[in-house]
Amino acid sequence: MKLAITGKGGAGKTTFTVFLSLFLAEFKKKVTVIDGDSTMNLPVAFGLPVDVIKAVTPLSEMDKLIEERTGAKPGVPGSFFKMNPKVDDISDKFALHVGDAIRLLVMGTIAKAGGGCACSENVFLRAFLTHLFIADEILILDMEAGIEHLGRGTIENVDTVLAIAEPDPCSIDVAQKILGMSRDLGIKNLKVIGSKVGSAEDKSYLKDCFPEDSIIGMVPFEPGLRRRGVVPSFAGIPESIRNEFAVIVKNLEKQKII
Ligand SMILES: Nc1ncnc2c1ncn2[C@@H]1O[C@H](COP(=O)(O)OP(=O)(O)O)[C@@H](O)[C@H]1O
Ligand SMILES: [Mg+2]
Repeated sequence: MKLAITGKGGAGKTTFTVFLSLFLAEFKKKVTVIDGDSTMNLPVAFGLPVDVIKAVTPLSEMDKLIEERTGAKPGVPGSFFKMNPKVDDISDKFALHVGDAIRLLVMGTIAKAGGGCACSENVFLRAFLTHLFIADEILILDMEAGIEHLGRGTIENVDTVLAIAEPDPCSIDVAQKILGMSRDLGIKNLKVIGSKVGSAEDKSYLKDCFPEDSIIGMVPFEPGLRRRGVVPSFAGIPESIRNEFAVIVKNLEKQKII
């Protein structure tokens, strides 16, 4: 199962990705998480040691690997390259580990189309996203903010798009656009997660903005979270949030999304 976590910048995508992974791992599910945002926050959000974080090279910048697999040097215009590069060993070779059950891959972003010079990187990353399927594992992609990347084929192969929306008009607008574009791409399951929900008014406002049944969870606003930043363990997840994740995971299971 492949899930893409999308939404406006700052909506809570990375935080949601970390909580969902920790929650699933706690209940003995195997999870592979992909950092598909150019800010590469996910290793920080998982609380990995500084030296590990400093040593990370995103797949998008592994020029030698991309050349070896595609037959073309990244950034060289007009090169010929293989359309189906070998990618099945990438997870095993390059994943970071968060505990026993979570593997983390820092992908970097699929570059802007145009100019013709980013082709071998993009072919490599798209192949990676398409073929990365590990039996009995849940794959979670923490995507770049906004909608612009959707046109670059970042989420074409996922089964589910979760749009993270705060109860504010701009966040909701981005989530609605993402859902519309994902529908056009033919993605099966389109769901919404309310984020930083502080009141009953917030809940009903969000409910009014999305089709019935599309909201499968409302993560409460937790004031201490921003200051604390890192929640690297299941035990560190605030109780109110943990309770809501129990509901979210149940909903995801009921709808056969995970
Ligand atoms: N449920 C929440 N309650 C309070 N603050 C939150 C919550 N979820 C996320 N945040 C805070 O919001 C900010 C942006 O979250 P982040 O997950 O990095 O967003 P994104 O990945 O969508 O850009 C962070 O400071 C984070 O701690
Ligand atoms: Mg993020």
